[in-house]
Amino acid sequence: MELRGRTALVTGASSGIGVALARQLAARGASLVLTARRKDRLDALAEELRTAHGVDVTTVALDLGRPTAPLALYEATEGAGQAVDILVNNAGFGTQERFDRIPWDKSAEQIQLNIVSLTELTRRFLVPMLERGRGHILNVASIGAYMPVPFFATYAAGKAYVRNFTEALASELAGTPVRVCCLCPGGTRTEFLDVAGQKATWLVDRALMSPERCARIGLRALFGRRRNIVAGFLYSFLCWSVRFVPRRLVVWLAGLVMGKRA
Ligand SMILES: NC(=O)c1ccc[n+]([C@@H]2O[C@H](COP(=O)([O-])OP(=O)(O)OC[C@H]3O[C@@H](n4cnc5c(N)ncnc54)[C@H](OP(=O)(O)O)[C@@H]3O)[C@@H](O)[C@H]2O)c1
Repeated sequence: MELRGRTALVTGASSGIGVALARQLAARGASLVLTARRKDRLDALAEELRTAHGVDVTTVALDLGRPTAPLALYEATEGAGQAVDILVNNAGFGTQERFDRIPWDKSAEQIQLNIVSLTELTRRFLVPMLERGRGHILNVASIGAYMPVPFFATYAAGKAYVRNFTEALASELAGTPVRVCCLCPGGTRTEFLDVAGQKATWLVDRALMSPERCARIGLRALFGRRRNIVAGFLYSFLCWSVRFVPRRLVVWLAGLVMGKRA
């Protein structure tokens, strides 16, 4: 899809899947607003994309783990007269640890970023999209949305929220000109594992996908009017098959594959 004349806002654009999404959107001609906390990285990517594709790119350094950030981001863009046609809620992190051993502030920040900020940004940017009669929203969840994952308890539960919220919203918006889609990546070679303090097991390491491929699958689904997509055949099969396995076994296997045991 040719995106010249459209503006895409990508959260978590300083690393991993967010960088890949930004590059692919710019390659289709979209102007970009890039946001994350690490401004130096955003600025370097902005410069690269302006040079490579001749698109407008602005950067907004923000901590979306804070409750005031989504409104600040809205005011810096739509509120300042910059229409956002494509919203990509990609920023997120997990922590691999037993729930009671994670400092509460860390869990609260994760819930704010992965769930509350994503929901508030969707709400704020959706309204002007509906008024203008066009818009796309891509929410990034995880294959953790399909199963409880021990030692990623709040993370996986939060991603189940993202998936259910996005699919319900896509149904509510049927018949409107706004498309909403959920991307569920499996293991992807980004900074996610380091940030989570997760050491990849042999199996996880073999199955890691490139962020470029994951982003390509997500954008194809978004512009192809899908409501939900699991990235890649292997992970799609895994998410499909869990419905046939006893739930307790699924939980045990998820913990085993992710590499941390009670
Ligand atoms: N990689 C995987 O295996 C995997 C699997 C399933 C789902 N996912 C999901 O994919 C999405 C992208 O993750 P990734 O794999 O690309 O990981 P990543 O390389 O660690 O990138 C995460 C991005 O989120 C941003 N971010 C983190 N905390 C933030 C905060 N408080 N405020 C604003 N931005 C923040 C980071 O930027 P700053 O640090 O500069 O703020 C970074 O740009 C996440 O939602 C993640 O849950 C990843």
